[in-house]
Amino acid sequence: MKQPKELKVKPIKNGTVIDHITANKSLNVLKILNLPNSESNLTIAMNVQSSNLDRKDILKIENRELAPNEVDQIALISPNSTINIIRDYEVVDKAKIGLLNEINGLLKCSNPNCITNTNEPVENKFYVINKEPVTLRCHYCERLMEEHEIESQF
Ligand code: CTP
Ligand code: ZN
Repeated sequence: MKQPKELKVKPIKNGTVIDHITANKSLNVLKILNLPNSESNLTIAMNVQSSNLDRKDILKIENRELAPNEVDQIALISPNSTINIIRDYEVVDKAKIGLLNEINGLLKCSNPNCITNTNEPVENKFYVINKEPVTLRCHYCERLMEEHEIESQF
């Protein structure tokens, strides 16, 4: 009997590959990236085998080179991902994605009385006080936000 051939995710010619995303988190990663009306070809691979026995997700964005500062916030939900820049099929740049010390304008404070949750025109702002597991502190009300409260926002 003929065995079906294994389907592999195609290499891309130019663009960005975000690799080693925590398994099943790629859709959340995509939300964080918030690529505005992207016309780029997107390939998402979920739950694929990594080089070791672990599973991971991969995101390939064709014809667009994301800058490290555009992807750093991904570390909030996927601490071990890498960003690879591809030109003419070659990886020309590879970097580990790392959390910045501040997260601005991305998350809602879990304290309902926080000034950022009122009608005041104040942008939310958190300090990263621990990276793994992630713990953030609100600049305004000092409320601590733990990983599950952060993940549930994406
Ligand atoms: N990749 C791609 N298209 C290319 C080249 C690479 O989509 N033309 C993808 C690979 O599939 C991989 C990632 O980009 O998911 C990084 O490629 P590479 O550095 O060649 O792979 P590894 O050595 O396995 O990377 P690492 O050491 O970071 O695990
Ligand atoms: Zn707050």
